Amino acid sequence: MEDSDQKTAIDHLRQVKTYVLRAGRMTEAQKRDYVIHAARWCLPFAERILNFTDVFENTAPVTMEIGFGMGRATAIIAAENPDKNYIGVEVHRAGVGRLLGEIERRGLTNLRIIEYDALEVLSSMIPNESLSGFHVFFPDPWPKKRHHKRRLVQRPRTDLFASKLAPGGYFYMATDWEPYGEEAYIELTATPTMESMYEGYAPRQTWRPETRFEVKGIEASREIYELMFRKKSLED
Ligand SMILES: C[S@@+](CC[C@H](N)C(=O)[O-])C[C@H]1O[C@@H](n2cnc3c(N)ncnc32)[C@H](O)[C@@H]1O
Repeated sequence: MEDSDQKTAIDHLRQVKTYVLRAGRMTEAQKRDYVIHAARWCLPFAERILNFTDVFENTAPVTMEIGFGMGRATAIIAAENPDKNYIGVEVHRAGVGRLLGEIERRGLTNLRIIEYDALEVLSSMIPNESLSGFHVFFPDPWPKKRHHKRRLVQRPRTDLFASKLAPGGYFYMATDWEPYGEEAYIELTATPTMESMYEGYAPRQTWRPETRFEVKGIEASREIYELMFRKKSLED
């Protein structure tokens, strides 16, 4: 795809949302944590490229998680990797409130939250070739055919992800929806500069904590599929 064609395609897909904002209830604790801690740990959406060194006050690599839900895995991963930085992006405020509480309880300083559409965040706030990884755990499967265009992991959205990864950076997706796993594998393989690190699905990455939606999938006897891709480096 030419750069200009890709931009048009991305602009078009940006109008199709990958989520639905439901007026979900927040617990009192989530509301309280949101009110008290959002100013400290949430980065407001802005049409301005972030300077990660200013944000984190260090030069450690930065990984973005898209759609962290209630943020269970996000908090555990950030706590276990204090030498790395994380940006969690989610549109549901209850999850944002929940994760803010976890940041405080665990004393995390390497995690920031952006409460906004991740595709807009990427386009407007994230420098090209700046991220060391993406985590996309159990993205909405959108099983109905007429909703497939809402799936997050498809071209040209994957082209946008690739453009934000530093050479050698990874894209890690887990899903319990086999047809989505298959489609995402094809779409990522078709994305120039991206290649699978495994032949077929990846083995379970033992460092990934179980997520809330993963538990639901397992309870429904669904298998888990993991995809691990990387952005080729110049030497490849
Ligand atoms: C099925 S849930 C999975 C949540 C969590 N990762 C888990 O495994 O428990 C998918 C989440 O992705 C979020 N999401 C979908 N598209 C998004 C986008 N473009 N930007 C930010 N969040 C998004 C939804 O709001 C939802 O909370």
